[in-house]
Amino acid sequence: MSYASPMEVTHRPLGISSRAGPNCKESPPPAPKLGRLPPPSVQRGVQGPSLNPVQPNRAGRTQPLIAAKDLFDAGSYADWGRAAVRVREAGLDISMLWDSTIAEPTEALAEVVREAFAGTVSSRYVSVFADGNRYAIDALARRYGLRPEQILTTTGATGALALALKALVRPGEHVLVENPGFDVLSRVARDAGAEVEAFVRPAPDFRLDLAELEARLKPATRAVLITNLHNPSGVRLTPDDIKAAARLLAKAGVVLIVDEVYADFAQAAGAPPAGSLAPNIITVSSLTKVFGLFALKFGWLAADSQLVARLREAAPDGDMGVSKLSHAVAAHVLEDPAPFEAHWQGLLAASRPTVERHVKLLVAENLLEGALPDFGCMYFPRVVGVDDTRTLAETLLTDFDVLVAPGEYFGAPGHIRIGFGADATAIDEGLTRLRTGLSALRR
Ligand SMILES: Cc1ncc(COP(=O)(O)O)c(C=O)c1O
Repeated sequence: MSYASPMEVTHRPLGISSRAGPNCKESPPPAPKLGRLPPPSVQRGVQGPSLNPVQPNRAGRTQPLIAAKDLFDAGSYADWGRAAVRVREAGLDISMLWDSTIAEPTEALAEVVREAFAGTVSSRYVSVFADGNRYAIDALARRYGLRPEQILTTTGATGALALALKALVRPGEHVLVENPGFDVLSRVARDAGAEVEAFVRPAPDFRLDLAELEARLKPATRAVLITNLHNPSGVRLTPDDIKAAARLLAKAGVVLIVDEVYADFAQAAGAPPAGSLAPNIITVSSLTKVFGLFALKFGWLAADSQLVARLREAAPDGDMGVSKLSHAVAAHVLEDPAPFEAHWQGLLAASRPTVERHVKLLVAENLLEGALPDFGCMYFPRVVGVDDTRTLAETLLTDFDVLVAPGEYFGAPGHIRIGFGADATAIDEGLTRLRTGLSALRR
């Protein structure tokens, strides 16, 4: 791909209009699209290049963006996320506002590993091959009010999803996935051989529309996939919302899979895991997001014990990728979660007021629209007057040194996803850059 030079970027049509405002008519919900994005050069006609600029950008900095060269060529969010990680690892002065994960509590993790393995090897270091790490399973059962036989441990939530879909869906059968959404869900369903279609969770509140869901069911539908908290919007469905969807699906013999990797952010709301709400619901989750422990890739699925027995029978190999070592560490984390709870709660206690202050200004200045969700570390506002948020995000990166995730990668052009599970000072700087950029680009 190519980047426009600072001068050229100034003249790029960004479509930001100061006339558009909160009272403007909401654009119609995006058509459910789950494929890869078209190549940006065709879609957006970007000019360039300035990967090695000699002149300062509009933020007054001159820094090479070679690491960002593939970023906006990405055809899917997974590819985009990989490219964004390369930008982060390049050590540039770029504010990272795209990540939806709590920053890793590296020291707390290292402490757990030291304690478990520095002297005699931890008693939690047991085989996972037959039935998973029983200590981790017992700790999950206590934490979520489940019985051990309701839980299967996996390689991250992604492994849980793959296992559930492999067991539930035969090639050619039908799976519905929410849109906007996290594209790995539909990828995994496709890998399981499913014919995958989207159903819309409409902006601005991204709730479940049961009539829309019902209209999209087919005789061959086997599963419906949703996230709670919703990625990308952070919106929370209540247990009643989820039960109502499960009731509707039960009539059609369909299983509701609820990806709850962000659910513990709302633990103050005291909701039980979705998998314990009805016999046709499966929770998939992991320690990746709220605890920031991507390093462990420790995940699980939880459901009614009869449904779990059915999954075991249909997929007797379970998850073959599970690591004995990382699941032993996960058992320790779950047996003493306090340092990890304190980590995410401390980060958000510091960053949330900063985000609230910026969002108030951004909304008041008519640059963004949309409420900050009550829980979690994601915000998915509509950018007022902008439809092509991929080009906008690229310009914000090259000219204002701030990286946000374009809504296009979640099936919702016109939105951007802002993550704030990191150090409050860095988030403050990032949001200041965002506001400077959006104000400067508006005309
Ligand atoms: C909704 C959702 N589910 C699953 C994952 C991946 O989880 P894991 O690392 O446990 O496989 C992510 C990561 O971004 C996510 O946002």
